[in-house]
Amino acid sequence: NTPKAKTPAKKGKTPAKGKGKGSGKTVLSEKRLFLGQKLTVVQSNIAEILADVVVHPTNSSFYMGGEVGNALDSAGGKEFRDEMNKLKAAQGNLEVAGAAICPGHNFPAKFVISCHSPSWGGANAIPNLEKCVKNCLALADEKNLTSIALPSIGSGGNGFPKQTAAETILQTISKYFVTVMSSSLKQVYFVLYDQDSIDVYTRELSRLEVD
Ligand code: APR
Repeated sequence: NTPKAKTPAKKGKTPAKGKGKGSGKTVLSEKRLFLGQKLTVVQSNIAEILADVVVHPTNSSFYMGGEVGNALDSAGGKEFRDEMNKLKAAQGNLEVAGAAICPGHNFPAKFVISCHSPSWGGANAIPNLEKCVKNCLALADEKNLTSIALPSIGSGGNGFPKQTAAETILQTISKYFVTVMSSSLKQVYFVLYDQDSIDVYTRELSRLEVD
């Protein structure tokens, strides 16, 4: 059950160097987590990842103008936009770190979890990012999903330093499986895309102890 990637994002900021058309994804690291889950860090466009669900960082009103939002919007087209509008109508405003799920369209993931991404510089930015990641994992569990792909939430439009976001997200994923008694999730992908994130990850974070 490896992620499949076809082409890099059409929109979004600075794709990693060397990612040409059809170059696919690169596995940067792979680790076993506490309950046996596989955590795989990959370099890819999240709109091309084959997983049960992918995570879309957004704001309180499900805006799709973030970097990942743009990639999902351009791949998903009208069918996906309609799903997002339905979700917004059903859900109302999303509180900070809140998460909500809808079906995906025209990209490999079956579902999309939209989460209200905290802003760097706002109150409790790091605890809110932790809460956001936990809420995404818990919602995937609630829906009995087996694989999830998360981007580096917060580190695009919302201004988190790349390293802070990656460190916080990886540690929170790891801790989640230590605190829950059981989980339907078997595979977690952490998807990096821009060159700065790849550099930071390969320089500092690949040594991170997650189990
Ligand atoms: N696939 C995977 N990751 C990507 C992609 C892609 N196609 N494109 C960009 N990224 C990376 C960015 O480089 C960044 O490191 O995903 C990370 C998150 O970027 P954003 O999607 O902009 O998310 P975020 O910083 O949380 O900002 C979300 O955007 O929807 C608006 O205002 C809304 O507050 C919300 C904000």
